[in-house]
Amino acid sequence: MSATKSTVSAIPLSTNKHLIRWVEKMADLTRPAAIHWVDGSQEENEALCAEMVESGTFIKLNQDLWPGCYYARSDPSDVARVEDRTFICSLSKESAGPTNNWVNPFEMRRTLKSLFKGCMRGRTMYVLAFSMGPIDSPMSQIGVELTDSPYVVVNMRIMARIGLPVLREIDKDVKRVVPCMHSVGAPLAPGQRDVPWPCNSEKYIVHFPETREIWSYGSGYGGNALLGKKCFALRIASNIARDEGWMAEHMLIVGVENPAGEKTYVAAAFPSACGKTNFAMMIPPPGFEGWKIWTVGDDIAWIKPDASGELRAINPEAGFFGVAPGTSPKTNPNAIATLSRNTIFTNVAMTPDRGVWWEGLTAEPPAECLDWQGNVWTPEIGRKTGKKAAHPNSRFTAPASQCPSIDPDWENPNGFPISAFIFGGRRAATIPLVYQAFNWSAGVYVGATMGSETTAAATGALGRVRRDPMAMLPFCGYHMGDYFRHWLTMQRSLSVTPRIFHVNWFRKDEAGNFIWPGFGQNMRVLKWIAERARSRSAAKETPIGWMPRYEDIDWNGLDFSREDFVTLQAFDHAAWRSEVIGHEELFIDLHDHLPPEMIYERELLICRL
Ligand code: OXD
Ligand code: MN
Repeated sequence: MSATKSTVSAIPLSTNKHLIRWVEKMADLTRPAAIHWVDGSQEENEALCAEMVESGTFIKLNQDLWPGCYYARSDPSDVARVEDRTFICSLSKESAGPTNNWVNPFEMRRTLKSLFKGCMRGRTMYVLAFSMGPIDSPMSQIGVELTDSPYVVVNMRIMARIGLPVLREIDKDVKRVVPCMHSVGAPLAPGQRDVPWPCNSEKYIVHFPETREIWSYGSGYGGNALLGKKCFALRIASNIARDEGWMAEHMLIVGVENPAGEKTYVAAAFPSACGKTNFAMMIPPPGFEGWKIWTVGDDIAWIKPDASGELRAINPEAGFFGVAPGTSPKTNPNAIATLSRNTIFTNVAMTPDRGVWWEGLTAEPPAECLDWQGNVWTPEIGRKTGKKAAHPNSRFTAPASQCPSIDPDWENPNGFPISAFIFGGRRAATIPLVYQAFNWSAGVYVGATMGSETTAAATGALGRVRRDPMAMLPFCGYHMGDYFRHWLTMQRSLSVTPRIFHVNWFRKDEAGNFIWPGFGQNMRVLKWIAERARSRSAAKETPIGWMPRYEDIDWNGLDFSREDFVTLQAFDHAAWRSEVIGHEELFIDLHDHLPPEMIYERELLICRL
């Protein structure tokens, strides 16, 4: 044991007998060398970070430049979510649907049992109690992750509420606890030296929706390992939400405040790495003096009708696990301020003064740095080999409370009223900058048929258009057709129905250049949306929905021509015909669970075309 080894609380920090028994049972299966009940304190966190510096998992960054910040490099094979190794093991294959990988739960339990048998040998098992959502919120949910990764513990401390306050909730035995088993799958033999990033080439990210359990094996990275995020807050929570009449969505939440101080909250779903974090932290451009954007969340929203039938949303997370490349003082100054301290960087590049760098952070790359695999990288090497200094899916884990634009009331246990939903994707052609669906059911169709070009957040081919309904394709924990039905039925419990919009910041001209400047300029679109939601801005009817005319957008402070706007908003009949055929592709797979409303909406769209 090292000199810096933290005081391990092997004595349970909870009085809950079910929890204690489960921990004992899992320790019996996985055989850790020690058990550490995580209290969540600052001292414990410092001790864990110091241990990881000693073991080589962490490098302490230059504390004058990056106070409280650490740096990690993952194994080169463990860099993203593994969708092909992600399983929804519902009792019937039918309930998981064709968009999820399914394995018979009995068979999967046998597989997991043999994988987890002795898998924590030589390691510490951390008992990590966490709350998704503010602990005092009626909308929050509790989980306990048993993990053999201290890296997971310190990341989860940023991403969720953890430790003693959550254990006190568990002691009350009122809320159901979601058990989350996690192992990097790299047991250590006596005397065996550890590696900086232990993991296993065999990976399993498994969900049991009926028993509300998560088992993750073989990866220490991001959504594969920080089980509160995608596994719990989306895949398991989508099941809970359907059963209980609320919604667990892959959405950011922002408040738009006008100069009169009136706030309109919207939730937006864009697929991974389409700029959700940038949008959530947007700074209004010159010309929008007096307008403010307030960040509530950048990735996940839990949304529930209140007693009066109004949808209210909380952000179940407490931090941002953001994609680093492309984040800069120009593209997202609020993110840069957020990650300036107390942040964990994974797979970015490290500069000689022990700072961090990634593509896009500065216009000029450093003359020399170490790339995400620890090799010397220079701009010259980059040019010659095409190698990036930072991995395209490199990340920062930063506390939400440090975000300059965080809503002063972001931890409000009752959440925020949602006036509009925005869907969007990365589309070079066909899809206009913005349009509004005619009504709720048409809006559900818009979300259900969303497509986007693939990015580095998940393993697989890049740049292909994939249908990603509501940005939930990798995250919906049950049959996608039933999920559309759930969206449709939600309307019945609402007294006010949020308006639904679609945006595309990524349309290109014939020369392949983006037409829209994006970033802070998206405020112009957001203003139109917020005002539409309050029935204050005008639009014209088109075959796909309501669209702003040039004069309906506030151009104050931006010289953007009417011609360019017409190109951006252009509706091309021929392109939309093939777009509708593209919608069919997914619908064919879902046919037996597809709500009839989706067919009517498609028929209506075809008629209008
Ligand atoms: C994420 C993702 O990490 O969607 O948020 O992949
Ligand atoms: Mn996401």
